[in-house]
Amino acid sequence: MDRVESAGGQLGAVLSAPRSGAAALAPGGPWLATDLAQARRVLADPEAFDFPGNVNRTGDLSGSRGETRSGHTVFAPVPPDAVARGVATFEREWTAALADHRRTRPDVPYDAMLLLRRPVARSTTSAVLPSASDETRNRVGDHVLAWIDALGPVIAAHRRPWRWGRVRRTERDTRIALEDVLEEALDAEPDVDLSPQQAATMLAAGIQVPIAAGAFLLAWLAQQPAPVEPTSAAWETLRLTPPTWLTARVTTREVELGGTTIPQGRVVFVSPLLLGRLSDLVPGGPGGLDQFDAGRWQDGGRRPGAWLPFGAGPHACPGRNLGMGILVALAAWGAKHELQLSKTVRIDQSRGISPTPCWFTAAPRSEHDL
Ligand code: HEM
Repeated sequence: MDRVESAGGQLGAVLSAPRSGAAALAPGGPWLATDLAQARRVLADPEAFDFPGNVNRTGDLSGSRGETRSGHTVFAPVPPDAVARGVATFEREWTAALADHRRTRPDVPYDAMLLLRRPVARSTTSAVLPSASDETRNRVGDHVLAWIDALGPVIAAHRRPWRWGRVRRTERDTRIALEDVLEEALDAEPDVDLSPQQAATMLAAGIQVPIAAGAFLLAWLAQQPAPVEPTSAAWETLRLTPPTWLTARVTTREVELGGTTIPQGRVVFVSPLLLGRLSDLVPGGPGGLDQFDAGRWQDGGRRPGAWLPFGAGPHACPGRNLGMGILVALAAWGAKHELQLSKTVRIDQSRGISPTPCWFTAAPRSEHDL
């Protein structure tokens, strides 16, 4: 897999930023929080750091550019019974997706970003819509995937792409189709207090990010010489390659952050990818912090997650337990298989980060390997 450390673009700029105070990534910003105290303040003080962009409209949770959106919904955490249902759905659907691939394309490697789509979509949908029949769940899941796909070019566009009208229209059509099926599905959900628009946001965030995280997890596992303990594998994946590697806020007034003065109306980033490489947050000595080492979590001495892979404050991830549950279930499957990458994995930075392509083969390990 390509090393994140050698990636260019915004990722490279964040990793090579000075590690003191709030770092200006360019003259006049954006700024970057470079330690945990700064990051916590940015995420947990909405009076000074507002949530930018409109997730309902763009679905972009990975560094939107622009307008503020005061009054944004605060989502309730996914409750434990919904997490359990979502994880059970994932396990069933992952087994089914593998079997389907083996039956229809036995000679072709698995494509992680493709293979994970339906299992994750159905898992998150079954968690968010507890009363949905399998048929409704699958239909909603497919509509969310279509909307996520249509959002891709909108989010990735630094400038209006050629044929912007068509890009926008496709995004709007897929969003409206999703909201229509959700309106009907939500009629049967007396205990779910979400509008179709809010449910669409929740589902898109809860499907796109775990697909990328799961694919990174498989890529990391394929590079390990021996089976890896599943929970530690999930944390190492979210430390080295957190899909939501950059989150943004906009200053509502002039603020002082880490001794740096930032004017009003400027973008400030928090990067779990940067924080996950700080030796005060991660055990194992400063030397190997860019290496995947699941063993670093096994003595229980340091709390995993201090680098905020699920954010913090009022907009912290409401689906973190489901996200972790999916990753741990996937890592448990991975521990029972010998995985091999079929191609060099590239790190796509167009929408958060994702491993694209991430092709692999899998063979069951023999009992004595485990
Ligand atoms: C491994 C999986 C996941 C990771 C790494 C992840 C990461 C994150 C992060 C970092 C944020 C905060 C963004 C910010 O502060 O700007 C976030 C927000 C969010 N996540 Fe997750 N997430 C995951 C899974 C899920 C799942 C399964 C769901 C739904 C069931 C979900 C729903 C959301 C929503 C709705 C938000 C927006 C919260 C708000 O704006 O108030 N996520 N996620």
